[in-house]
Parts: sequence; structure tokens; C-alpha cells
Amino acid sequence: MYMVDLIQKKRDGGILSDEEIHFMIDGYTNNRIPDYQMSAMLMAICFQGLNKHETVVLTDEMLHSGDIIDLSEIDGIKVDKHSTGGVGDKTSLVLGPMVAACGCKVAKMSGRGLGHTGGTLDKLESIPGLHVDVSKQDFIKQVNSCHLAIIGQSGELVPADKKLYALRDVTATVSCIPLIASSIMSKKLASGSDTILLDVKYGEGAFMKTKEDAKILAQTMIDIGKSLNKDTRALISNMNEPLGNAIGNSLEIKEVIDTLNGHGPKDLLELCFHAGSQMLMQAHIADNEIVARKMLQDAIDSKKALRCLQAMVKAQGGDDAYITHPELFPKTKEVISIRSHSTGYVKSLNALSLGIVSMKLGGGRMVKEDSIDYSVGLVLNKKIGDFVSKDDVLLKVYTNTGLSKELADNIYDAYEIVDEYVNKPVLVEDIMK
Ligand code: URA
Repeated sequence: MYMVDLIQKKRDGGILSDEEIHFMIDGYTNNRIPDYQMSAMLMAICFQGLNKHETVVLTDEMLHSGDIIDLSEIDGIKVDKHSTGGVGDKTSLVLGPMVAACGCKVAKMSGRGLGHTGGTLDKLESIPGLHVDVSKQDFIKQVNSCHLAIIGQSGELVPADKKLYALRDVTATVSCIPLIASSIMSKKLASGSDTILLDVKYGEGAFMKTKEDAKILAQTMIDIGKSLNKDTRALISNMNEPLGNAIGNSLEIKEVIDTLNGHGPKDLLELCFHAGSQMLMQAHIADNEIVARKMLQDAIDSKKALRCLQAMVKAQGGDDAYITHPELFPKTKEVISIRSHSTGYVKSLNALSLGIVSMKLGGGRMVKEDSIDYSVGLVLNKKIGDFVSKDDVLLKVYTNTGLSKELADNIYDAYEIVDEYVNKPVLVEDIMK
């Protein structure tokens, strides 16, 4: 078999056989196929697509290119959740404790942030002492005892994706739905949980810009999950504005704690109730959404979910006093209020721009090697649909380096304020299974 023949076949709209996909992924992972041939194949896939069967086989080949985590020593149903990423997205840190408190086992591997989206691991590491490099044995022990662990990747999961993603990044082949779906699902399947809930976001701050594309991506991932015998479901959610009010690492952890204390922002809670209900049904802990929502509400009201978070923080070496006393988190040198220049309703709020402002304050990384200032970021006071009077505070900037005119302008540009009444956006647009 020759790679050049496979490239030609795909270029001309042909369907790759199972053997050809195996040849291609195994050969590329093991350095027998060079980058220039794989680049040509990726571009051919971008133009010609992959059918459902090809996408499943590609995912399965990628999944088997490295380690697959065996979670069978954890009792009960292991649930996992994946978000396609967004600004202010601290869902895993609220949802994980909520569903763990209801009896699910959450054995989660998360990532770090790059660019405008923050990473769950960075947020967690803003808690002094907490570490995310946990051995497999300790990971399993922790999930059996606290029901919850959120750690960095252990083992060599999906090396094919590591190579392919780096190549896609520099060949303009990232935004191709079958390639995104196989990349995400191979990693989720390799992480070993029994069920997968996907939160596929669309909008300005997200990977998918339209609802239609988000639905196609979700359906492609559900089809892959089903074909490989995993209960996979998806929420389609709107990411036209940041989720919750806080953007920035320790600011987001404080919002997580507020939420688990019953004082969370409405949109964040709504997303967690939708996602948590599906996860409890996937784990056969609740029969229907009404029962599931009641269990999740009880987990918050009884503080059981907060205690789950606290137990996880302690088990991973973190100072759990920060969970009961969030005022311990270091404060920034300055908190600057950004006040509205006009009166009206917030029509739009550019999540992407605000994510970039937070990154430039030092809260995120422009390149992988950058270090992070955990304390900086933004806390929104006004979001889409809110009425604003002139001089009202739109948001507060938590900074150790002042605020340049450029960043202040970026914040003002992110807000569109109009005279006409604006409805609050619907956050969860669809649930697919
Ligand atoms: N996230 C991934 O893990 N892979 C993609 O291809 C896109 C987003």
C-alpha cells in the first residue's frame, strides 16, 4: 500500500477502506509516513469529507494508537463530560462535584488553557498546594473514596492525535468536522469512562460559529460513541457571552464555590442542571429529568456537592481552607471598575475579546511556556439583556499591572448597548442523544 495512492483516492472523492485508514494512522504515528503526505491527506479530507464509517474507523485507529485507561477498579458507573471550550467555562468544576454527590463516579482528565480559553487544570492549580499529576493508583483510590478526581493526562493517550493536531494547526485543517470529532472522541474514549456527555458550544467565543455546525459536530460525535458502544449525548449551548460572571483562574474558583453554596449565576447553574440531569440518567441514577434535577438541587442545598469539591482538593494536596474561606485567595493590587458611557440594554457581549483581555492581563497563556497570574481577570456586572444606566459598572478588572488604554478600549468594544429592549439569550438550545 502507498500513501500517495490513498491521497489521490481521497482527493478524487473516494472512500478509504478500514485497512487503508489503519495503514495511514499507524504509519503516521510511527513516523513511516512523513508530514508532507499527511498534510496533503488532511487537506483532501477537508475538501472531500469522511463518511460515517470512515470517521468511526479513524477514531478507533487513533484511540488504539496509545494507552487506554482501565477504570474497571472503580466501582459504579464512571461518567465523563467534555466541553468544546469557551470563555469563563468552569462547568466541570461545578458539575463534577454535583453529580459525584449524587453517586456518579467522576474520573476526569482535563487540559490546560491556551489563548482565550482557560483550562480547568490552571483554575484548580490556583488553589495553593493542589497538584494534578496523580499516579494511576492514587487516581483510582481517590475516585473510589471521594467519587471525584480531576487530574492532568496520565500515560500516553492517543499519540496519533498529538501529532495530527500539531500538523492540523499549521496546515489550516483544524476546522473540519470529522477531524475535530475523531480528535475529541478518541481522547474521551481513551480516558475509560462508561458514559460521555458533550457540551458543544457555538458562537463568537467558541470553535463552532453557528448552531447548525455545532449540531453536525455533536451528531458526528454521538454516532462515533454509539458505534463504539459508549452512551454519548450532547448539549448544544450558546457561547455568545462568557459563562457565569468570572473570567480568570482564582476568580472562577471563587465563583464555583459561590455556586456550590447556592449563590451561582443563573446561566452557569442552568447549564449544570441540564448537563447533570443527562449524566444522572446516563448513569441510571435517575429515571427522568424531574428526579435528576431534584437530586442535583439537594446536592447543592445540603452542601454535599461543596464537600465533594473540598474532599477532592484535600486528596490532591490542596489547602481546603480556601474552599470554606475563599477570601484567602490572594488579592490583586488593583480592582478597576469599567463604567458604561451610555444608557440602554446590552445587546451583545464579545466573549472572545474578553477572554483575550483576561489572557493579556496575565490570566492565560499566549504560548504554552507562559506562566500564569492566577489572581487576575474580569468579573462581569452586566450581561446580555441587562439594563444599564450611564456610569453603571459594566465589569471589574482585577489586575496587578494596571489597565492599558488598548485593553480598556477592547472592553468597551466588547459591549454593544442599544436603546431597544433585549431578551436574555437561551443558553441550552438542544439536547441530542
Ligand atoms: N479540540 C480537540 O481536542 N480537537 C480538535 O480537533 C478541536 C478541538
